[in-house]
Amino acid sequence: MPAQDSDVSGRYNSNARTFDNSVDFYEQFSGIRRWRKRLAREAEGHVLEVSAGTGRNSDYYKHKKCKSLSFVDLSGPMVELAEKKFKRLYPKYDQPVPQQPPVASVTQSALEPLPDSIIEEVTRSGGYDTILQTMGLCSTPKPARLLMHLGTLAHPERGKILLLEHGRSHYDWLNNILDKMASERADKQGCWWNRDIEQIIEDSGLVVERMRRKHLGTLYIVEARPKRHSDTAEGKDGGQEVINEVGTSWPVARIKALIGRDPGVRTSEEEEKSLEKN
Ligand SMILES: C[S@@+](CC[C@H](N)C(=O)[O-])C[C@H]1O[C@@H](n2cnc3c(N)ncnc32)[C@H](O)[C@@H]1O
Repeated sequence: MPAQDSDVSGRYNSNARTFDNSVDFYEQFSGIRRWRKRLAREAEGHVLEVSAGTGRNSDYYKHKKCKSLSFVDLSGPMVELAEKKFKRLYPKYDQPVPQQPPVASVTQSALEPLPDSIIEEVTRSGGYDTILQTMGLCSTPKPARLLMHLGTLAHPERGKILLLEHGRSHYDWLNNILDKMASERADKQGCWWNRDIEQIIEDSGLVVERMRRKHLGTLYIVEARPKRHSDTAEGKDGGQEVINEVGTSWPVARIKALIGRDPGVRTSEEEEKSLEKN
């Protein structure tokens, strides 16, 4: 059995073909599909979906509101299925139709910098307007760092990060059950269902604009945003900032507190190891 919180993200390579069938019925019956629709329909401007999996949200975007749509996932087999699904949904997509946003999909970790092919235009406009992730924090090895990275990709003023996640409940009795079965589930499904999602968001430094919890507290519907300079004491005092890969500025003190080092200084191998733990 995998140790608590170990990296089980590779399971999606082997589970890709059965993934949709394994969640379809539960999502329909539990109302999760409705939440997917509601969040994806809020997407506007330059849109990034990370941990996009088999593209379970791709039918719900309002294309007229989107300037571009990019999908990122770590698993090649999941991305392949998402691309097939997209072509099935929009068979004429490769033909020039007015008001169709450019669409791209990339196989890579959302913890890594995005390729120029999708980020260039977005960089010019200052960052993503909308970033969506559904059921991603349970499957990735460093959830707080992933969210922090999303914060750096979002537009500093208008960027919103929409999350539909699952994790710990409001109730101890249910958390005990989740804890007991967590390793077995992670081993089979590639998902840690007992993560403390509120804590992860707090650790990431994102600011929560709204959060709803459903299903005894295990389902999290969240809108977050990057911390703005004006939100921080450093900001008020004119503290030092660091500019990230898409031109978003982050207070140096905040990043230092989160990753344990000065973001401007190259890390030694030892420091990299200590970073791995966060
Ligand atoms: C439970 S599935 C959810 C897929 C999809 N978002 C959905 O709602 O159905 C989790 C997905 O996260 C992907 N994933 C895990 N870690 C990742 C990372 N660091 N970067 C990008 N994708 C990741 C997995 O490959 C998998 O496709």
